[in-house]
Amino acid sequence: MNSKTTRHVCVMGHGITYSRSPLIHNYWISKYGVDAEYGVCDLAETELPGFMASIRDSSTLGCNVTIPYKQAVIPYLDIVDDAARITGSVNTIYRSNGLVRGTSTDGTGYVDHLQNTHPDFQLKGARILILGAGGAARSIADALVKSGCSVIYIANRTVQKAEQIAGLQPDIIKPLGWDELASKVGLVDLIINTTSLGMTGRQPLLFPVEQTRQDCIVSDIVYAPLETELLARARTLGRPVLDGLGMLLHQAVPGFHLWFGIRPLVTGDLRALVEQDLLSHD
Ligand code: ATR
Repeated sequence: MNSKTTRHVCVMGHGITYSRSPLIHNYWISKYGVDAEYGVCDLAETELPGFMASIRDSSTLGCNVTIPYKQAVIPYLDIVDDAARITGSVNTIYRSNGLVRGTSTDGTGYVDHLQNTHPDFQLKGARILILGAGGAARSIADALVKSGCSVIYIANRTVQKAEQIAGLQPDIIKPLGWDELASKVGLVDLIINTTSLGMTGRQPLLFPVEQTRQDCIVSDIVYAPLETELLARARTLGRPVLDGLGMLLHQAVPGFHLWFGIRPLVTGDLRALVEQDLLSHD
């Protein structure tokens, strides 16, 4: 379908041939019979102002934003919601009531994935350890605080970045140096790796998984490889695990809903499609 009524959405960034967003959204576009096309806009920095002006065009519903423009788009937006303001980055742009708005869905994507995969896990009162203090850690910490957890330890090589995130909610978020994390491993109900350690081609994550409690959920937001060494070790020890691919799928849901008014489902079929694509590009 490509007519005057076809609506346009895309993922916008630079050097983004790896993006799986077109695969995910075009799957849903086809599944739900929506008259739309989801493409890729790879932009040089000088093209950003023109692109942002084109978002106001009536056939364009909005876009996903990825590196390196997650912060750079903010001055072009009419409204930036709480999640985007707190995380200082936007990954989804949409129009509503004539205004161009930005949000960040990484944190809620993680929480939705967790609650779908482990529905019995009680986030209220949970004790959590996050490894890493980049943009993803900030989004996830914000969403977890809103879900009522009791404490979040954030361990980072550069402790000052963990301290900055703790500033969001100092009563709940406690910064740690990387060398202090071992003291908390046995105390928590959920561990989340948000560092790039363990990703294909990067250094391994050296983490004492065997010191976690038997029922501690071990999760990784890295999805290449699909099963990181951290998750493989946790699985071998019998710990419940949560992988990074699910977060990628769930963070896409709010964008589709905001653009098309349909809340799409994250199904086994979609997961298999993206898994196959990841494996074929290994
Ligand atoms: P994102 O925004 O996607 O979360 P990022 O901002 O690059 O990505 O964050 C990457 C995280 O991985 C950071 O917490 C980084 O630690 P620093 O803040 O100290 O840089 C962490 N990281 C990357 N390489 C690391 C390493 N070799 N050892 C420990 N942590 C590492």
